Amino acid sequence: MKKRMLAFVCFCALIGVVGCEKQANKTEEEAKPSEQETVDAKAQEQDEKSLVLYFSATGNTEAVAQTLAEATDSELVEIIPEVAYSEADLDYGNDQCRANQEQNDDAARPGIQNVISIDRYQRIYLGYPIWWGTNPKIILTLFDEVDFDGKEVALFCTSGGSGIETSVRELEAYRESVNWLGGQRFAGADASQVRAWVDSLQ
Ligand SMILES: Cc1cc2nc3c(=O)[nH]c(=O)nc-3n(C[C@H](O)[C@H](O)[C@H](O)COP(=O)(O)O)c2cc1C
Repeated sequence: MKKRMLAFVCFCALIGVVGCEKQANKTEEEAKPSEQETVDAKAQEQDEKSLVLYFSATGNTEAVAQTLAEATDSELVEIIPEVAYSEADLDYGNDQCRANQEQNDDAARPGIQNVISIDRYQRIYLGYPIWWGTNPKIILTLFDEVDFDGKEVALFCTSGGSGIETSVRELEAYRESVNWLGGQRFAGADASQVRAWVDSLQ
Protein backbone atom coordinates (compact mmCIF):
# COMPACT_ATOMS: atom_id res chain seq x y z
CA MET A 1 0.00 0.00 0.00
CA LYS A 2 2.83 2.36 1.04
CA LYS A 3 4.61 1.65 -2.25
CA ARG A 4 1.47 2.44 -4.21
CA MET A 5 1.01 5.69 -2.31
CA LEU A 6 4.62 6.63 -3.02
CA ALA A 7 4.24 5.85 -6.73
CA PHE A 8 1.06 7.97 -6.84
CA VAL A 9 2.78 10.95 -5.16
CA CYS A 10 5.75 10.70 -7.59
CA PHE A 11 3.37 10.55 -10.55
CA CYS A 12 1.52 13.68 -9.38
CA ALA A 13 4.84 15.52 -8.87
CA LEU A 14 5.95 14.59 -12.40
CA ILE A 15 2.69 15.85 -13.94
CA GLY A 16 3.16 19.09 -12.00
CA VAL A 17 6.73 19.63 -13.27
CA VAL A 18 5.80 18.91 -16.92
CA GLY A 19 2.79 21.21 -16.61
CA CYS A 20 4.89 24.06 -15.22
CA GLU A 21 7.46 23.62 -17.98
CA LYS A 22 4.76 23.75 -20.66
CA GLN A 23 3.29 26.86 -19.06
CA ALA A 24 6.75 28.48 -18.97
CA ASN A 25 7.35 27.68 -22.66
CA LYS A 26 3.93 29.05 -23.53
CA THR A 27 4.59 32.31 -21.67
CA GLU A 28 7.94 32.62 -23.46
CA GLU A 29 6.23 32.07 -26.83
CA GLU A 30 3.51 34.55 -25.97
CA ALA A 31 6.19 37.14 -25.16
CA LYS A 32 7.87 36.66 -28.57
CA PRO A 33 6.46 38.97 -31.28
CA SER A 34 4.79 37.08 -34.12
CA GLU A 35 6.10 37.46 -37.68
CA GLN A 36 3.15 39.76 -38.47
CA GLU A 37 3.86 41.91 -35.40
CA THR A 38 7.50 42.28 -36.49
CA VAL A 39 6.40 43.37 -40.00
CA ASP A 40 3.90 45.84 -38.48
CA ALA A 41 6.55 47.30 -36.17
CA LYS A 42 8.93 47.80 -39.10
CA ALA A 43 6.20 49.47 -41.16
CA GLN A 44 5.35 51.75 -38.25
CA GLU A 45 9.01 52.65 -37.83
CA GLN A 46 9.12 53.68 -41.51
CA ASP A 47 5.86 55.62 -41.16
CA GLU A 48 7.44 57.58 -38.36
CA LYS A 49 10.49 58.51 -40.47
CA SER A 50 10.46 62.00 -41.86
CA LEU A 51 11.71 63.18 -45.23
CA VAL A 52 14.06 66.01 -46.13
CA LEU A 53 13.21 67.04 -49.67
CA TYR A 54 15.19 69.80 -51.35
CA PHE A 55 16.00 71.66 -54.53
CA SER A 56 19.45 73.22 -54.76
CA ALA A 57 21.00 74.86 -57.81
CA THR A 58 24.47 75.67 -56.43
CA GLY A 59 24.84 73.45 -53.34
CA ASN A 60 23.95 75.71 -50.37
CA THR A 61 20.51 74.25 -49.74
CA GLU A 62 21.92 70.78 -50.28
CA ALA A 63 24.46 71.32 -47.48
CA VAL A 64 21.75 72.43 -45.05
CA ALA A 65 19.48 69.58 -46.16
CA GLN A 66 22.21 67.01 -45.42
CA THR A 67 22.76 68.36 -41.90
CA LEU A 68 19.00 68.45 -41.33
CA ALA A 69 18.56 64.84 -42.47
CA GLU A 70 21.26 63.72 -40.03
CA ALA A 71 19.80 65.77 -37.17
CA THR A 72 16.31 64.35 -37.69
CA ASP A 73 17.26 60.84 -38.88
CA SER A 74 15.27 61.52 -42.05
CA GLU A 75 15.45 60.17 -45.55
CA LEU A 76 17.04 62.65 -47.96
CA VAL A 77 15.70 63.21 -51.48
CA GLU A 78 16.74 65.83 -54.01
CA ILE A 79 14.29 67.45 -56.42
CA ILE A 80 16.18 67.14 -59.72
CA PRO A 81 15.14 69.51 -62.51
CA GLU A 82 14.39 67.92 -65.88
CA VAL A 83 16.78 70.43 -67.41
CA ALA A 84 19.72 71.24 -65.14
CA TYR A 85 20.42 74.94 -64.45
CA SER A 86 23.66 76.11 -66.04
CA GLU A 87 25.72 78.97 -64.67
CA ALA A 88 24.27 81.22 -67.38
CA ASP A 89 20.72 80.14 -66.40
CA LEU A 90 21.40 81.35 -62.85
CA ASP A 91 23.08 84.65 -63.77
CA TYR A 92 20.37 86.76 -62.16
CA GLY A 93 22.19 90.00 -62.93
CA ASN A 94 21.04 89.30 -66.47
CA ASP A 95 17.32 90.06 -66.92
CA GLN A 96 16.99 87.41 -69.60
CA CYS A 97 18.56 84.47 -67.78
CA ARG A 98 16.40 81.37 -67.52
CA ALA A 99 15.86 81.61 -63.74
CA ASN A 100 14.69 85.23 -64.01
CA GLN A 101 12.35 84.43 -66.89
CA GLU A 102 10.77 81.61 -64.88
CA GLN A 103 10.37 83.76 -61.78
CA ASN A 104 8.66 86.46 -63.87
CA ASP A 105 6.23 84.01 -65.46
CA ASP A 106 3.23 83.02 -63.27
CA ALA A 107 2.61 80.00 -65.46
CA ALA A 108 6.17 78.65 -65.41
CA ARG A 109 6.39 75.13 -64.00
CA PRO A 110 9.88 73.73 -64.69
CA GLY A 111 9.80 69.94 -64.95
CA ILE A 112 11.04 67.54 -62.28
CA GLN A 113 13.13 64.61 -63.52
CA ASN A 114 12.74 62.14 -60.64
CA VAL A 115 9.58 60.55 -59.26
CA ILE A 116 8.96 61.88 -55.77
CA SER A 117 6.93 59.69 -53.45
CA ILE A 118 5.98 61.02 -50.03
CA ASP A 119 3.32 58.44 -49.07
CA ARG A 120 5.48 56.87 -46.36
CA TYR A 121 6.17 60.10 -44.52
CA GLN A 122 4.01 62.20 -42.25
CA ARG A 123 6.49 65.06 -41.83
CA ILE A 124 8.41 66.59 -44.72
CA TYR A 125 11.10 69.24 -44.45
CA LEU A 126 11.10 71.06 -47.79
CA GLY A 127 14.05 73.23 -48.74
CA TYR A 128 14.98 75.56 -51.62
CA PRO A 129 17.04 78.68 -52.39
CA ILE A 130 15.32 82.06 -52.46
CA TRP A 131 14.99 83.41 -55.98
CA TRP A 132 13.78 86.98 -56.24
CA GLY A 133 12.37 86.97 -52.75
CA THR A 134 10.48 83.68 -52.96
CA ASN A 135 10.71 79.98 -53.83
CA PRO A 136 11.84 78.87 -57.32
CA LYS A 137 8.93 77.90 -59.56
CA ILE A 138 9.99 74.25 -59.51
CA ILE A 139 8.55 74.08 -55.99
CA LEU A 140 5.12 74.88 -57.47
CA THR A 141 5.64 72.04 -59.97
CA LEU A 142 6.21 69.80 -56.95
CA PHE A 143 2.88 70.83 -55.37
CA ASP A 144 1.12 70.37 -58.73
CA GLU A 145 2.47 66.84 -59.12
CA VAL A 146 2.56 65.47 -55.59
CA ASP A 147 -0.35 65.26 -53.16
CA PHE A 148 0.68 66.86 -49.85
CA ASP A 149 -2.85 66.88 -48.36
CA GLY A 150 -2.70 66.43 -44.60
CA LYS A 151 1.09 66.14 -44.48
CA GLU A 152 3.12 68.21 -42.02
CA VAL A 153 5.44 70.44 -44.04
CA ALA A 154 8.23 72.51 -42.50
CA LEU A 155 9.87 74.84 -45.03
CA PHE A 156 13.49 75.92 -45.04
CA CYS A 157 15.49 78.05 -47.43
CA THR A 158 18.96 79.43 -48.02
CA SER A 159 19.57 82.91 -49.36
CA GLY A 160 22.01 85.79 -49.58
CA GLY A 161 19.90 87.88 -47.19
CA SER A 162 16.19 87.64 -47.98
CA GLY A 163 13.87 85.97 -45.50
CA ILE A 164 11.59 82.97 -46.05
CA GLU A 165 8.35 84.71 -45.06
CA THR A 166 7.11 85.60 -48.57
CA SER A 167 7.48 82.04 -49.85
CA VAL A 168 5.84 80.64 -46.70
CA ARG A 169 2.84 82.90 -47.28
CA GLU A 170 2.67 82.06 -50.99
CA LEU A 171 2.97 78.30 -50.51
CA GLU A 172 0.42 78.29 -47.68
CA ALA A 173 -2.01 80.00 -50.06
CA TYR A 174 -1.09 77.62 -52.91
CA ARG A 175 -2.03 74.52 -50.87
CA GLU A 176 -4.34 75.20 -47.93
CA SER A 177 -4.84 71.50 -47.18
CA VAL A 178 -1.26 71.05 -45.96
CA ASN A 179 -0.48 71.12 -42.26
CA TRP A 180 2.12 73.91 -42.51
CA LEU A 181 4.72 74.18 -39.75
CA GLY A 182 6.20 77.54 -40.78
CA GLY A 183 9.68 78.07 -42.15
CA GLN A 184 13.30 78.85 -41.37
CA ARG A 185 15.95 80.69 -43.37
CA PHE A 186 19.61 79.69 -43.30
CA ALA A 187 22.40 82.02 -44.42
CA GLY A 188 24.00 80.35 -47.42
CA ALA A 189 25.36 76.92 -46.56
CA ASP A 190 25.62 77.72 -42.82
CA ALA A 191 23.71 74.92 -41.09
CA SER A 192 24.74 75.80 -37.51
CA GLN A 193 21.15 76.73 -36.56
CA VAL A 194 19.64 73.45 -37.74
CA ARG A 195 19.48 71.81 -34.29
CA ALA A 196 17.86 74.85 -32.67
CA TRP A 197 15.24 75.00 -35.41
CA VAL A 198 14.43 71.29 -35.24
CA ASP A 199 14.07 71.50 -31.46
CA SER A 200 11.70 74.44 -31.80
CA LEU A 201 9.41 72.31 -34.01
CA GLN A 202 9.00 69.36 -31.61
C1 LIG B 1 17.91 83.54 -59.84
C2 LIG B 1 18.40 83.84 -58.45
C3 LIG B 1 17.74 84.76 -57.66
C4 LIG B 1 18.16 85.04 -56.36
N1 LIG B 1 17.44 85.90 -55.60
C5 LIG B 1 17.80 86.13 -54.31
C6 LIG B 1 17.04 86.99 -53.50
O1 LIG B 1 16.03 87.55 -53.90
N2 LIG B 1 17.46 87.18 -52.23
C7 LIG B 1 18.57 86.59 -51.72
O2 LIG B 1 18.89 86.79 -50.55
N3 LIG B 1 19.32 85.75 -52.47
C8 LIG B 1 18.95 85.48 -53.76
N4 LIG B 1 19.68 84.61 -54.52
C9 LIG B 1 20.82 83.90 -53.90
C10 LIG B 1 20.44 82.50 -53.43
O3 LIG B 1 19.23 82.50 -52.71
C11 LIG B 1 21.50 81.88 -52.54
O4 LIG B 1 22.76 81.93 -53.15
C12 LIG B 1 21.14 80.44 -52.17
O5 LIG B 1 21.83 80.07 -51.00
C13 LIG B 1 21.47 79.47 -53.29
O6 LIG B 1 21.09 78.17 -52.87
P1 LIG B 1 21.55 76.88 -53.67
O7 LIG B 1 23.06 76.86 -53.64
O8 LIG B 1 20.97 75.74 -52.89
O9 LIG B 1 21.01 76.98 -55.05
C14 LIG B 1 19.29 84.36 -55.84
C15 LIG B 1 19.97 83.42 -56.64
C16 LIG B 1 19.53 83.16 -57.94
C17 LIG B 1 20.25 82.16 -58.78
